[in-house]
Amino acid sequence: MRLPLKFLAVLLTSLGLLAGGGYAMLTSMTREWFEKDLRLRSQLAVGAARMGLVEAWTNRSGVLAERLTDITRDERIMSAAACSMTGDLVAATDGYLRDFSCRSVLERIQRDVATEIDAWTMTSDLPSGRVQLSGHLVLDDGPPLGFVLLVHDLSFLGRREEATRDLLLLAFFVLALGAALVTLLAAKLAWRGWTRDLQRALSGDAPREFQPLVRDVRALVDRLSREAETRTGPWDPERLRATLLQHLKGERVVILANREPYIHVKTPHGIRVQHPASGLVTALEPVMRACSGVWVAHGGGSADRETVDTRDRVAVPPGEESYLVRRVWLTEEEENGYYYGFSNEGLWPLCHIAHARPIFRADDWKHYVAVNRKFAAAVCEEVDSEDPIILVQDYHFALAPRMIRERLPRATILTFWHIPWPNGERVGICPWREEIISGLLGSSIVGFHTQQHCNNFFDAVDAFMESRIDREAHAVIQGSHRTLVRPYPISIEWPVHWLAGLPPVEECRRSIRQELGLPADALLGVGIDRLDYTKGIEERLQAVDELLTRYPEFRGRFWFAQLAAPSRTKIDRYRELNARVETVANEINEKWQKHGHKPIVLLRSHHEPPAVFRYYRAADLCYVSSLHDGMNLVAKEFVAARDDEKGVLVLSQFTGAARDLTEALVVNPYDFRQASDALAAALNMPVAEQQERMHSMRRLVSEFNVYRWAGRMLVDAAELRRRERMSGRLSSVAPQRTTDGA
Ligand code: F6P
Repeated sequence: MRLPLKFLAVLLTSLGLLAGGGYAMLTSMTREWFEKDLRLRSQLAVGAARMGLVEAWTNRSGVLAERLTDITRDERIMSAAACSMTGDLVAATDGYLRDFSCRSVLERIQRDVATEIDAWTMTSDLPSGRVQLSGHLVLDDGPPLGFVLLVHDLSFLGRREEATRDLLLLAFFVLALGAALVTLLAAKLAWRGWTRDLQRALSGDAPREFQPLVRDVRALVDRLSREAETRTGPWDPERLRATLLQHLKGERVVILANREPYIHVKTPHGIRVQHPASGLVTALEPVMRACSGVWVAHGGGSADRETVDTRDRVAVPPGEESYLVRRVWLTEEEENGYYYGFSNEGLWPLCHIAHARPIFRADDWKHYVAVNRKFAAAVCEEVDSEDPIILVQDYHFALAPRMIRERLPRATILTFWHIPWPNGERVGICPWREEIISGLLGSSIVGFHTQQHCNNFFDAVDAFMESRIDREAHAVIQGSHRTLVRPYPISIEWPVHWLAGLPPVEECRRSIRQELGLPADALLGVGIDRLDYTKGIEERLQAVDELLTRYPEFRGRFWFAQLAAPSRTKIDRYRELNARVETVANEINEKWQKHGHKPIVLLRSHHEPPAVFRYYRAADLCYVSSLHDGMNLVAKEFVAARDDEKGVLVLSQFTGAARDLTEALVVNPYDFRQASDALAAALNMPVAEQQERMHSMRRLVSEFNVYRWAGRMLVDAAELRRRERMSGRLSSVAPQRTTDGA
């Protein structure tokens, strides 16, 4: 039942009860009035007949009965009797009831000391109906001659009571209905006003004095939605699909990301599919499998053109096609300027504190703008409605959100920045900082891994943009457009589908050691990365060297396998790193070879996910030593791989993951001494402690998986759409500066 109906029911019931009580009270009151009225009329009748009565009584003439009959002419007086003061019947009208004899009445009156004859009445229920008996003294100059008893007909009272009750009920019903309607109307108007005020308050326009209240309401809403979330159980592909269906009516999702999830490459054995080493792909590919839709990406594989249809699309995953990849082609010049240049020599070092100097070239910027426009156009070709859901990924596409918004003003654009967002001072280094920030503010939501990155973004907006920042609502407001800025720590699928076909941990341990030519009981550490200077690979190898120096018991017993996927090799800094890592690995191996031990196994090639997961399962420890990392999904993958709950994660404090995975051994990767202590502690850790730590981390990653990450963004987006639809904002987008700063 809807609220107003419930209210109406309660109101009518209350009024009904009230009417019942009122009716009882009114009945007894009216009965009292009528009885008083009868008594008065009787007194008047006896008073008027007094002279005749006295005369007939004192003369003892036989006309006393006639005088009594005169009295009964009143329509309500049925019969009458004249009694002596000793209780003898003197005269009576015809039909006077013998039940009410003079004597019995006199005895009754005498028993009741408080009552005089003149004031005495009594009601009685006879088979013919209810009657009232009243006594009246007949006075002359001396003592009373006697008294008259009158019998009144009370049957009319019942009829009157019935009529009164019906009228009363009708009146109460009309009154109740009127009162209910007036109350409902008033409540509705008040509710409308209240919700409008609350909405205004929650959307950030609350007067200052109401801010604490708004804060409390938000906290309550957050808590309730968290509780609701806990009640609905863990996030999985099914729940994500249901969320999309429920909150966004199942509209298809379009992802824009530079890196494609499946790369077709030519090999001597024909065209093969490669899965790129990419945290972004690791996270988003399962989301797309769950949601379906289109992934718009750069077609960079050597056989990509040969595998698309006439609209540059290919259905994936191969063999279990559930979504499309739309490939966008770039010229070498475009790729050099947009990807290698502005994205990876400019923005990448700008956002990471890893001691690489950002390089900003005007020519690269020109390509970055043009390629963002090209991808934005491709996205707009792929949408199937005026208000689609578009997920823009990463620093390659900072301008695309606004470009898309210009073409699709009603789109819901969720942008996720997969790398750290630096502090305001650092952002200021970029000559096109305003354009970058303005481009991102074309989004409905901008997501970062951590609250710190959100705060840094707000500071940059504050420093370089004309806008209003509502830190309470986590939003930036430009004209009528609002962009939410929120932390959404990214994660991985759970369970990881790559694990399905893998051998048990013991078998992985045995076979990997055999393949690497290591003793069966060798202690093994692993590092899995793209060859990137932000990953701290050199520092990691030096920490291994320090371990062997300071903990001689591990010499000849411990090996470290570094899987390093070549990355961005056109960039000098990456080529230098490649050479540097090789040099460091060789130096360490030469140093320890004197003791008959080459501890570093450097595997510089692309490894497909099943191979990577075999290493995770074979290892005694995994060391993630990033110098700066938005999240780092290798750490979470290692945890997911260890269904035996063994193995230790040593994790850099400069990763986003270190905030979640607190049971890892968290270290400063620049501090080789501390890192080597952690490596030694990991190798010496009792199995029970390993299991305790791993168990807890697995629980966390399983719960906070990538379906939850995507689900929360989509739910927030749906909420935003709902609010915007309510306030009619979807149709108006504020005029702002153009995307390329013109
Ligand atoms: O982690 C940052 C990131 O750019 C990801 O978005 C991407 O998956 C990864 O690095 C790989 O980079 P690239 O796509 O340049 O090989």
